[in-house]
Amino acid sequence: MKELIDSLKRNRNLSPEEFAILIKEMTEEDALYLKEQAFEVKQQFYGNKVFTRGLIEFTNYCKNDCYYCGIRKSNLNAERYRLSLEDIMSCCEEGYRLGFRTYVLQGGEDLRFSDDDIVKICQSIKEKFPDCAITLSIGEKSYESYKRFKEAGADRYLLRHETADEEHYKSLHPESLSLSARKQCLYNLKELGYQVGTGFMVGSPFQTAECIAKDLAFIKELEPAMVGIGPFLPHHDTPFKDYSKGSYELTLKLIAIIRLMIPNGLIPATTALGTIHPKGREEGISWGANVVMPNLSPVRVRKQYELYDNKICTGDEAAECRACLQRRMLSVGHEIVTARGDFIPYIFEA
Ligand code: 5AD
Ligand code: FES
Repeated sequence: MKELIDSLKRNRNLSPEEFAILIKEMTEEDALYLKEQAFEVKQQFYGNKVFTRGLIEFTNYCKNDCYYCGIRKSNLNAERYRLSLEDIMSCCEEGYRLGFRTYVLQGGEDLRFSDDDIVKICQSIKEKFPDCAITLSIGEKSYESYKRFKEAGADRYLLRHETADEEHYKSLHPESLSLSARKQCLYNLKELGYQVGTGFMVGSPFQTAECIAKDLAFIKELEPAMVGIGPFLPHHDTPFKDYSKGSYELTLKLIAIIRLMIPNGLIPATTALGTIHPKGREEGISWGANVVMPNLSPVRVRKQYELYDNKICTGDEAAECRACLQRRMLSVGHEIVTARGDFIPYIFEA
């Protein structure tokens, strides 16, 4: 097992079969070795600095119906909301004061926000905060739309592939969504020059080690700048309400594996990781993550952006979240920095 880990570190890749073995057969001792290697690689590129992004969840309307997601359109119990441009700008202002230099605009696939609206939002943010980066996370759009958003100032785009196994993809989503369309979007985004983020849930229903091996192979193929993973957590108003949550430990191991695959990658310690375990985000950093994404959304809507049950930080003002995370990062010897935190390409030796 140690040889596999060394080989992963050296070549930044393994075969799908080897990945599956790594996932299935790691002992606790192997896992500690993996953690050390990933931490070392993270330190080489990022030291003790953690980047932060202000997350603005600007709409929880969604035309999709993913079986795992609490804001799926069939969830009639979800209280829907949309933020206005003014609301979004106030979130950014507060964020700027708190030291955020990246805003992540995330929402369901809400057609009430036209491309013109998104363009307007990007332009307004860039005009007022030219030193900030904009990350969009608003799902599948046409090449043309992505192009317009880019021209309007969007720098990065988050779109998790969710699972790279066709059959598994179908078991998580209704017919209207397909893995091939999702992948096409990711390639379009890359071609347009976005810093692209993808990722998947750990322990989603029907996921096998082979599925995860395919996720890792797809990540290698795509070469994203960012990879976000978090444990699957059930939401009480979805078809997956009775499935068990994903494994905390496996999520940490996968963060480490992804760090070894993409040494210079931007890897968040996600909110889902902080939800499944009180020290999840701190541990995420110790296993190779280097980004945290606290919530900047107005407190009055926080609870409504409920993708899964018991989501953390829903009652806290942005300033509290920021201070809380600063403390948490300090507790594992890291500090949050005020910087855009762009992806820096790096040429690795063959
Ligand atoms: N548990 C964990 N993560 C979830 N997401 C959506 N629903 C859940 C859930 N029930 C993740 C998806 C999506 C991201 C915004 O949140 O991976 O891409
Ligand atoms: Fe909105 Fe899945 S329910 S993207």
